[in-house]
Amino acid sequence: MDMSDLDWTGYFDSQAGRRVRSLLVDTLARRGAAPPGTALDLGCGEGTETRHLLRNGWRVFAYDADPASEARVRAGLDAEQLSRLTFTASRFEDLGALPPAHLVYSSFALPFCSPEAFPGLWTSIRAALRPGAWFAGELFGPRDDWAHTPTMNFHDRVGVEGLVSGLEVASVVEDDRPGQSFGGPKHWHVFHISARRPS
Ligand SMILES: C[S@@+](CC[C@H](N)C(=O)[O-])C[C@H]1O[C@@H](n2cnc3c(N)ncnc32)[C@H](O)[C@@H]1O
Repeated sequence: MDMSDLDWTGYFDSQAGRRVRSLLVDTLARRGAAPPGTALDLGCGEGTETRHLLRNGWRVFAYDADPASEARVRAGLDAEQLSRLTFTASRFEDLGALPPAHLVYSSFALPFCSPEAFPGLWTSIRAALRPGAWFAGELFGPRDDWAHTPTMNFHDRVGVEGLVSGLEVASVVEDDRPGQSFGGPKHWHVFHISARRPS
């Protein structure tokens, strides 16, 4: 599949009504009784995880390059929940510094940042993590079917370990298997990461 053909509107349609991703649910559970704080959702898509955070009391800064994302994210939220949401339509490549947060979440989106811009984006993510804050998100590995896409970034296990060094890693689950994507059959090589900045 040519990644430049990706139709995010169709992807958003396919995601509407799905369950909240388990990586987020599990990471929130690891926080125990800690109260909700400020969360970033990078590449929030149609917004299932952003809405889940808002409904659970979080202040959320949601980001997506696709301007069609915002209306989807906001749908079904009440005025009070919307008052805790800030949506920014921006490419990762243009984000710069991020607000300090208690949780930085990004599901299946960071790999779409250009390889040239990814180190700066990762630096911004690490800088946004307050002491004790969590990062939860996916990175893709070199055996992924999309790994030869020049506009995307990929990391092997050693690379992932380097990126999370200095964090307390709760889990890095590696998927390396055939499966399905929105665009059809695909070999997935994915690292699902849940890690915490030490207090
Ligand atoms: C596979 S979707 C994931 C969406 C959502 N996080 C989820 O788990 O369903 C990838 C998202 O990243 C966004 N995206 C792709 N390239 C991007 C970029 N360079 N900067 C910011 N967002 C981007 C797309 O618009 C899309 O919403």
